Amino acid sequence: MMERELALEFVRVTEAAAMAAGRWMGRGDKEAADKAAVDAMRAVFDTISIDGTVVIGEGEMDEAPMLYIGERLGLKVPPEVDVAVDPLEGTNLVAKGLPNSISVVAIAPRGCLLHAPDMYMDKIAVGPRAAGRINLDAPVKDNLAAIADALNKDIRDLVVVILERDRHKELIRQVKEAGARLKLISDGDVAPAVATAIAQGGPDVLMGIGGAPEGVLAAAALKCLGGEMQARLAPETEEEVERCRKMGIEDCNKILTMDDLVKSDDVIFAATGITDGDFLKGVRYYGQQVHTYSVVMRAKTGTVRFIEAIHNLSKKPHYTLR
Ligand code: FBP
Repeated sequence: MMERELALEFVRVTEAAAMAAGRWMGRGDKEAADKAAVDAMRAVFDTISIDGTVVIGEGEMDEAPMLYIGERLGLKVPPEVDVAVDPLEGTNLVAKGLPNSISVVAIAPRGCLLHAPDMYMDKIAVGPRAAGRINLDAPVKDNLAAIADALNKDIRDLVVVILERDRHKELIRQVKEAGARLKLISDGDVAPAVATAIAQGGPDVLMGIGGAPEGVLAAAALKCLGGEMQARLAPETEEEVERCRKMGIEDCNKILTMDDLVKSDDVIFAATGITDGDFLKGVRYYGQQVHTYSVVMRAKTGTVRFIEAIHNLSKKPHYTLR
């Protein structure tokens, strides 16, 4: 079991990454923003009392120098945990100064987070009131009708978030035909998936194909919040199908339920806003002071904490913020 005190430690991890990445807002350099987030996140992980293994990270060992899949993190003392990270979720959003980029981690006991390969995943995600009412394989209009019913709304009052991509043309057409409203986003589907469960007046449902690692991260938050995600891996090549098998996923066509995505209630999710978003403000810089806005939650208790932190950089010489 993970001690609850660890929750605050994980917020320090996302705060550090967000503070580093936020400096790159609007500067058109997504690689530099990502690297800053990775370096900062990695450094703070080394101070935490866990024996962590990255199961969702920056890529395979040969592609990523840090936070690669399989990397061990923390002080290498119990508890043994799976670590899912996205130091900068929404690199384009930061590069262009657009909303909803976040730094995010999820931690669960070893073996409890789906080792999602870096490929696409089809997802549908809702907040707690519509949990139990969705079915990834049902027609779009049926899902929207069920969600509207659960939320006591008309379909035309619903807001559906979808990544604006050519692959979603038919999905978007069907949502329009059903009469719901749409929020088409350019990048970053973790924050809106979480927002279905947490943001006041936020979106009602996230639909469509995005990254599989991002799906597991969002599912960890929804587990804490009582929401629901259903998902299916969407490998595009034989090689990706093989990669699923290697990661222990025999049937890529299977609908992945909340318990497939996140096996335990002993999961902690933390995120810090980088740019302003649906439920977290972005980082604010005031000379030697930096303000961050984070959320941390545990599925075991369902407690959700919003943490506003004021960091004094003059007392943190290890922060190399540019
Ligand atoms: P980054 O890796 O640049 O942060 O992008 C993240 C993201 O926008 C996810 O939120 C989303 O799931 C996925 O990429 C969508 O992939 P694609 O841009 O290939 O449609």
